[in-house]
Amino acid sequence: MIQPLTGCFLTSLFIKMKLQILATLVTLVPYALGFPHLANFPEHRSLAGLSPEEVQVVMGTFSSMPGPQPLPPPIDDTSEKLVNDVAHPFKALRRGDIRGPCPGLNTLASHGYLPRDGVVTPAQIITAVQEGYNLGHQFASFLCYTAFLTDGNHLTNLMTIGANTTTHGQPTTGINTHGHFEGDASMSRDDAFLGNNINFNETLFDAFQVAADAVGGGLLTLDAIVLNRQIRIKDSIARNPQFAFESPRFLGAIAESAFIFAMFVSGQTVDNKKPLTIDAVRHFFDFHRLPHGFRRRQGPFDFPLVENLTFSIVDMAGAKPGSNKGVNNYVVNTQDLATFCYVYQKQVNFTATLYPNPTPKLRDAIKQNLLTYYQALGKPECEQYFPFGR
Ligand code: HEM
Ligand SMILES: *[C@@H]1O[C@H](CO)[C@@H](O)[C@H](O)[C@H]1NC(C)=O
Ligand SMILES: *[C@@H]1O[C@H](CO)[C@@H](O)[C@H](O)[C@H]1NC(C)=O
Ligand SMILES: *[C@@H]1O[C@H](CO)[C@@H](O)[C@H](O)[C@H]1NC(C)=O
Ligand SMILES: *[C@@H]1O[C@H](CO)[C@@H](O)[C@H](O)[C@H]1NC(C)=O
Repeated sequence: MIQPLTGCFLTSLFIKMKLQILATLVTLVPYALGFPHLANFPEHRSLAGLSPEEVQVVMGTFSSMPGPQPLPPPIDDTSEKLVNDVAHPFKALRRGDIRGPCPGLNTLASHGYLPRDGVVTPAQIITAVQEGYNLGHQFASFLCYTAFLTDGNHLTNLMTIGANTTTHGQPTTGINTHGHFEGDASMSRDDAFLGNNINFNETLFDAFQVAADAVGGGLLTLDAIVLNRQIRIKDSIARNPQFAFESPRFLGAIAESAFIFAMFVSGQTVDNKKPLTIDAVRHFFDFHRLPHGFRRRQGPFDFPLVENLTFSIVDMAGAKPGSNKGVNNYVVNTQDLATFCYVYQKQVNFTATLYPNPTPKLRDAIKQNLLTYYQALGKPECEQYFPFGR
């Protein structure tokens, strides 16, 4: 009886050792080929900036390369419901878990709607933001691919929701690439020029209370959200000589103000009539945690509702895209159309600049993901761009 078991144990131990040796050998390949800086290249790190030779080398180290994937289907049930439930408990960060500048995604990861380590596929994000917040399928897809095209890995189909790598200890940009999607005048994070643009900042967060007390009777009504937006823009104009507030950041920042109103309110109505509490924003922004008993909104928040609320805030705040040419010298950019078509086109152009010389496999993958991006936009009236050919 003992012998077969021991034999089996030994065989499996042997196989394990062989696999380990193999894995070690794979990580050594970049050294052998003369690219030591590419050893332990994280599978979720973007391939932008690598030469064709470097892409070939890191490709050899990836455990799998599913490449571009189609958009996942919309969720079936979009009713209001309890989402801070027993199946999705909050758990504290473990060593190496990645979190980033987005309170929405950070919170989903801390409750297991997204992988808790913060390494994700686009499909996982698109499904999780629907499940957790009832963000509409179309807008979720558009937003997710805007981030993926800047920071994702087109071959492994992985990205992260933040800056830090999990296992290999090398820093990555994640969704934090500054000046593009991540940007200035955030509600709770500093401008990169002024300080830490990733972590929560209490001083900036205080502007919520100031706005709520000034015009919301202590609550974050739509008027208070608008005032908060104005305060944050004014602060950057006054202190950040390099304040950059053009598309996509311009619409992104305003859409984020719309997001907290539409999705951080428990059981928010279809027409966004319930005010937001400081306690709720504190939970999401600071603790990465759903408030106790939190229910997702009634019905999806999607185009054209997203545009309605976003452009309402633009109008109410009197906000215009532009940038500072020195402190207190904000220059409006009249060329910036500040529409979602424009964001799409700028992102496509930006993606083309990130990959001036892709390998054929990488080119095919980017091309496919750009098609998916246009599909995610869901606006046939927007001109489609093909910088990598049709
Ligand atoms: C669908 C995929 C999403 C992606 C790729 C994404 C990505 C990002 C990124 C890159 C930022 C940083 C922008 C900055 O500099 O402030 C950000 C901020 C933000 N996101 Fe998300 N996000 C997503 C979904 C959501 C959802 C569903 C919510 C809310 C339910 C949300 C709420 C916010 C808020 C409120 C901010 C602003 C944080 C601040 O100003 O301090 N996001 N997001
Ligand atoms: C990333 O790592 C640095 C250094 O270890 C740490 O100070 C920072 O808080 C981490 N950032 C995030 C977003 O986890
Ligand atoms: C928070 O932001 C303020 C204003 O930019 C800055 O003075 C302060 O040093 C920041 N705090 C931290 C902890 O980074
Ligand atoms: C948003 O919708 C409301 C109510 O349907 C409407 O009165 C308003 O004009 C719309 N605003 C924008 C900017 O589309
Ligand atoms: C993107 O690039 C195309 C082709 O070079 C150009 O015609 C278009 O104006 C650019 N669009 C934006 C929004 O930058």
